Amino acid sequence: MRRVSLDVTDLAVYYRTLRGDVRALDGVSFSLADGEIMGLAGESGSGKSTLAKSLIRMDGRMRRIRGRVELDGTELPVDDQRAMVPFRFHEVSLIPQYAMSALNPTRRIGRMIRELIRSRGIDYTAVHPELLRRLELVGLDAQVLDRFPIELSGGMKQRVVMVLSTLLDPSLLIADEVTSALDVTTQRSVAEALAGFRDRGFITSMIFVTHDLALVHQIADTIMVMYAGRPAEKASSRTVIEAPRHPYTRMLLSSLPEVGVTFSGKRLEGIPGQPPGLLDPPEGCRFRDRCPLAFAKCAEEPPFTEVAPGHWAACWKVEG
Ligand SMILES: Nc1ncnc2c1ncn2[C@@H]1O[C@H](COP(=O)(O)OP(=O)(O)OP(=O)(O)O)[C@@H](O)[C@H]1O
Ligand code: SF4
Ligand SMILES: [Mg+2]
Repeated sequence: MRRVSLDVTDLAVYYRTLRGDVRALDGVSFSLADGEIMGLAGESGSGKSTLAKSLIRMDGRMRRIRGRVELDGTELPVDDQRAMVPFRFHEVSLIPQYAMSALNPTRRIGRMIRELIRSRGIDYTAVHPELLRRLELVGLDAQVLDRFPIELSGGMKQRVVMVLSTLLDPSLLIADEVTSALDVTTQRSVAEALAGFRDRGFITSMIFVTHDLALVHQIADTIMVMYAGRPAEKASSRTVIEAPRHPYTRMLLSSLPEVGVTFSGKRLEGIPGQPPGLLDPPEGCRFRDRCPLAFAKCAEEPPFTEVAPGHWAACWKVEG
């Protein structure tokens, strides 16, 4: 048995709003093995970024209702900013959605990196040689440090962000939509560079958040599909693509006509109906209104259970 690196148990995270709590994550449980790259897929609003963020840092509007996050056997104090400081970047690192467009346009890349590293209490001169080595590994020479963000292509910026986020060899890297603003060829090389970081031991395991199942299929060992704040299915990438068992995953894949061939870049859309609102989601299976197989029992929430070795699904129609 491979060691479990990340263990998430019954995590529920809500956003406080004037209209009430948005139940963005509800009862999320899964684990990640040492060395595993897990693709995290699902429609817009299914809770991917909320999950990504809540494993490292709750923002002011997020509230952990219940649940536990453990990394390498230690509980992460995810809703205590200060207590998370020793873990962030050292143990768990996040490349947030839109990170590359958030680079400060008035700072040269080198200065920005220096300031960021120092703000984390790390000796810049000590990590400088490793920084140069890793930039070179992803195809960037040292001159990139003298440039402003506007002088770099999207792919170059994304590589800078990747190198920076993994400089301290975190155990877990969460990459949120790092490829979505890039052209197809660059998407692939950025995704491959990240998988290369795992192969070289810069990171141990990774959650790769994406809309693009074709891309994630190429680099991820497993895929977890989320629906309306809950995991629907998790299995090896191959199983999810070739033999999915949850009705939502099946519809998702059949709405993409040439699976594994040309649907790169397409968004996960095309299933009639809308996911339920998360301000006051219905009881039971959240896919019920759109599911062709729904029956009376679906008024109760289906547990996310292991239906075959390494294959989890939350559906009353999927037999173990
Ligand atoms: N700050 C916020 N306040 C209130 N609700 C929020 C906030 N941020 C996200 N949400 C809601 O939480 C749910 C999950 O959002 P999240 O951003 O995690 O989805 P996502 O799967 O990352 O979507 P996308 O694919 O568009 O990035 C959505 O219903 C969203 O509207
Ligand atoms: S639990 Fe019921 S409604 Fe939900 S996916 Fe399964 S069959 Fe469909
Ligand atoms: Mg998102």
